[in-house]
Formats: sequence, C-alpha cells, structure tokens
Amino acid sequence: MSHGPLDDDAVESYREAGAVLVEAMNEAREMVEPGRSQLEVAEWVEDFVREEGAGLAFPVNLSVDPEASHATPSRDDDTEFGEEMVCLDVGVHVDGYIADAAVTVDHTGNVELVEAAEMALEAAVDEAGPGVEVGVVGQAIEDVIRGYGYTPVLNLSGHGVEQYDAHTEPNVPNRGVDRSVELEPGQAVAIEPFATDGRGKVGEGTDEEIYELQREKSVRDRRARQVLEEIAEFDGLPFAARWLSNDRAGMALRRLKQADVVKGYPVLKEADDALVSQAEHTLLVTDEGVEVITAGIHDFDG
Ligand code: CO
Repeated sequence: MSHGPLDDDAVESYREAGAVLVEAMNEAREMVEPGRSQLEVAEWVEDFVREEGAGLAFPVNLSVDPEASHATPSRDDDTEFGEEMVCLDVGVHVDGYIADAAVTVDHTGNVELVEAAEMALEAAVDEAGPGVEVGVVGQAIEDVIRGYGYTPVLNLSGHGVEQYDAHTEPNVPNRGVDRSVELEPGQAVAIEPFATDGRGKVGEGTDEEIYELQREKSVRDRRARQVLEEIAEFDGLPFAARWLSNDRAGMALRRLKQADVVKGYPVLKEADDALVSQAEHTLLVTDEGVEVITAGIHDFDG
C-alpha cells in the first residue's frame, strides 16, 4: 500500500492520543504493585482515557510473568498483583488515530530483562526512518536483546496502525530479516520488542478476555443480538468481555464466536513459562525521520 503524507488533522489526533496515553501510563505504572487489584488499575486507565475525551484502541493489557500479551482482567476479577513482572500495554485513539505503547513494571528483581527490551526499543527508534527496511530495525532489536544474553520473542512483532485499525502492515519483526519492506512516510508504526529468558516463542493460553468484531452478520439468538448491538459501539476495535453490560455476555460471546461474528484473542504465554518483558512506542514516519508520539514513558526518552 502506498502512503501520502499524513494530513494535519491526522497528525494532531495522533499527538493527542499519544499525550493522553503518556499521562495515563505514568500514573498507572506507579499503581502496579503487590497487593493492588489488577482490575482497579485497568479500570483506572480506561476511565482516565474516556474522561479525557479519547477512546480505547484496545483494553488495557496487564500481562504477568510468562504472559506476553492479550491478558486483561475479567468482570469482577479479584486478582491482585504479586512480586511479578507486568507488561502494561495501553492503546488510546483520538478520532480513530491510535497510539499504542507499553512499559514493563518489575517486582521480581530482573532489572536487566526489563532494560534489554527498553534498550532494544531505543535502538529500533534510532534505526527507523523513511526508506529503512523493517528487517534492519528488527536486527537492531535482536542484537541488543541477545547482547544482554536474552532472546527476543520471535513470533511477536510490531505493526502498523491506521485509523480504527490497531494492527496493519507493515510488520516490524523482533529479529533480523533479509530483504524486507521499507518504512514509508505517512505510516504510523508501533515498535514493540519483547525479551525473555526462555526460548523466545509464545503460544496461546486458555484465558480469553479480549474480542473483536470480525464481520457483520445477523444472529437469531436474542441475547447475542443485544450484545452485538453493544459491540457496534467499539468501532471495530478490540474490546474486553467486561465492557459488556449484559450479565450473560459470556454465553452470547461464545455464540457469536461460533458464528464467526467475533474472534477472540487468547492470552499469549512464553512457551517455557519464562519471564517476558516488553517496551513499545508508536511513531510516525515522516519525510525526514520519525516522530515518537508516545515519548515520555521510557528512560531513554530524555
Ligand atoms: Co501495544
């Protein structure tokens, strides 16, 4: 796909989404501590974003220890944080323009694992620019993480974002790749290195709390129809089961999944049950270089 430069309104919306995200993230990361309720932290972030007049590009992800992605509290979840490594991944949109960023909060004492993902992200942002192959960005990520003696999560990658679409081309791998596509001016790209002391592969766990509308289709079941009406308000973006007001939403969601109307995002876990850290920024590719719209959440942001 070819991209023209982003128009001024789009750039302004990206910047606003980034600013709301940074404010939410820097409060929320302080709340992630042993004994605190996961649900409380997720809802605090989500309420803050809505009160700022922005939208959620996806539910707050709180991925703990071997979990890398797609974990979010369930309705009435009473899980508390422990002495854990928590990847806090937040997506905010303004008028559909998405900022996606993540930090890792560590209460396990594995400081270097967190640092490996952070430094890999810094190297990737330094490398990125118009005409730069995504495989070169991936090589920078891989080199830094392996330099720490860890492994990048090889089957997760960064991704483009477009209006009301949280995952588009181009994929930005977390490893070196020969002859890959080039970043183009006008793209918005989320770069997200994951580091682990395991084998560097994630698989699907059994928990599933995040869903997305897959296609419009009429359903007979009355309750499923009611839930589908609510889902329409999420603009095609991923949503949490706990966002649905219907107290029988679980069964309705299963029906909608069976009918291929919604798809689920199972929690992704490291295959060796090893710890996973994550660092993520969203950046705009410009004619001259990149503009990081989520700057202010990582140590290297300056
Ligand atoms: Co993210």
